[in-house]
Amino acid sequence: MSVLFQTRKCLFKKPFNNTFCKYVFLRKNSDVPRKFVTFDEIVAQRRLEAQRSLVVQVNSESSFNELYGYCSKYASINDIHHYKNSGGENFMLIEFESEENLKEVLKSCCSHNKDHDLISVQSPFVWFRAAAGKKEKLVANGKNLAVKNGIEIIKEDVLYEELMNCETVSDQIQLLYDRTTLNDLGMRLRYMVARQLEVIFSSLYTNVRVQPFGSTVNGFGRMGCDLDLILTNTLTEEMTAAGRRLVFQEKRCEGGRGGARHMELAGALLELRVPGAARVVRVLNARVPIVKYAHDYTDLHCDLCYNNLSGAYMSELLWQLGELAPRARALAVLVRRWAARAGLTQPHPGRWVTNFPLTLLVLFFLQQSHAHLLPPLNLLVSCAGKEDTRIAEENLKCTFVRDLNKLPPESYGQNDDDLQTLLFKFFEFYSQFDFENKAISINEGRAIRKPNSLPLYIVNPLEQSLNVSRNVSHEECERLRLEVRNAAWHLESCPARSAEGWGALGLLERRAAPQLRRLLRLGTSHRLVSMRDLFREDDEPSVEGVRSKLRTLVKT
Ligand code: GTP
Ligand code: MG
Repeated sequence: MSVLFQTRKCLFKKPFNNTFCKYVFLRKNSDVPRKFVTFDEIVAQRRLEAQRSLVVQVNSESSFNELYGYCSKYASINDIHHYKNSGGENFMLIEFESEENLKEVLKSCCSHNKDHDLISVQSPFVWFRAAAGKKEKLVANGKNLAVKNGIEIIKEDVLYEELMNCETVSDQIQLLYDRTTLNDLGMRLRYMVARQLEVIFSSLYTNVRVQPFGSTVNGFGRMGCDLDLILTNTLTEEMTAAGRRLVFQEKRCEGGRGGARHMELAGALLELRVPGAARVVRVLNARVPIVKYAHDYTDLHCDLCYNNLSGAYMSELLWQLGELAPRARALAVLVRRWAARAGLTQPHPGRWVTNFPLTLLVLFFLQQSHAHLLPPLNLLVSCAGKEDTRIAEENLKCTFVRDLNKLPPESYGQNDDDLQTLLFKFFEFYSQFDFENKAISINEGRAIRKPNSLPLYIVNPLEQSLNVSRNVSHEECERLRLEVRNAAWHLESCPARSAEGWGALGLLERRAAPQLRRLLRLGTSHRLVSMRDLFREDDEPSVEGVRSKLRTLVKT
């Protein structure tokens, strides 16, 4: 069996950002125990999977036999996955054996309505209507669903119960990752949403490609996270070949910054031509213009942008670093959740940190000599070959080595600390970090002098003159420092196993509703007190309780 075949098989069977995802296989005639695959190989595999898949709305989970029997009349089926959206509607994602198979099935589809206000759109999202007339007996020949209710998000109380019952803090961190990380069906559906746009936009753009980026693909995503999508229409050399005499006429599109006009068009198409797309909002004045929409069939919140290749390369970079240090993924998932619970991140943008810079904080920590799990990005750049050259918008160089097997093995993974130790060291490291004078640079892998007085400075790894946390206010940076200290303090004086809030639970449990958080923010900014100082004994404070404590503090 060839090495390539083994790799492909492995890729195909294993969801790519699953627990400590390593595609382990033995090279022929070699004692090297593992090989990294590239991000592009994984993306290609997911895209192929989407190109031979269909999402079918069905009556219920028990429509499986009928649907299987019906579709297998036209084509061979690999697997059927079932899920429900938040509206309680049932869907099945069918993966056929080949794209040709899917085309056969699509030929058998029809349109429903002659109503002029309803436009039937050919896309990989269809519905399975009840049989007319005499019912044909359709069976699944002993086949079963690959998964039932496959994108259900674990309930908070169940998760906390499981965390409570863990043996160690490391187990808690690992469990949180395993139970909340984006699963295989979640990933398939995201590629289906991208595929849907690609199919619908393909008559308008030459060589259109719509692709997920951000936390969907960077290895740090959780079930239910937003879906960032990038639309590109890069022409290949063949498409622009000088030898061809007949050339398509062109239409000038004065794109505006970052393709705002393209996004205007995409917004209109989403409203008028994309089944399942709802609540379309255009954000065209931003540095990267986007169109936000909800995809009702999959329950996803999507952000679509045009040609923002640097965002996509950034996701690739984060994914690679997660491959080199899989513990980074579990740590980052915990840190992101801790930050949300502590009110350091918010669902909307503002003067606070977001998940992306928080992830960079985790990666930077793992580059430090005491962790020694990750190399500086500069090493990935210096190991890059010609084939790794990538140029993003505005001539931005995004070149770094894509084949991680080319990195010196001693440059990463030189530390056996368990997750608990790493988490504690993470909080301790940032408790002592000189935020006043130092900037965080994953390019250098060490702190550098801050070029300006912005409170939090995290160098944009792909555009080093920029700070990815330029939006963070003094007050929010101060709160980050306080919460980091509180977290270190909590882990150091950790209550015994099974006690209320032991281990990671104390960092994750919701203590205050948003209204309380606003009050707390007021209190912490004025008095530099922390939530812990305010609520030593009180785990579920009331709004009135917070007010009265703050009044007392202000008086003193
Ligand atoms: P969540 O959506 O919160 O789960 O995390 P995310 O990593 O997807 O972050 P977000 O949606 O805010 O951003 C999407 C992606 O855009 C990130 O993962 C980065 O790859 C990229 N990105 C975000 N901010 C910047 C930035 O300031 N500069 C560049 N070049 N890319 C960015
Ligand atoms: Mg995102």
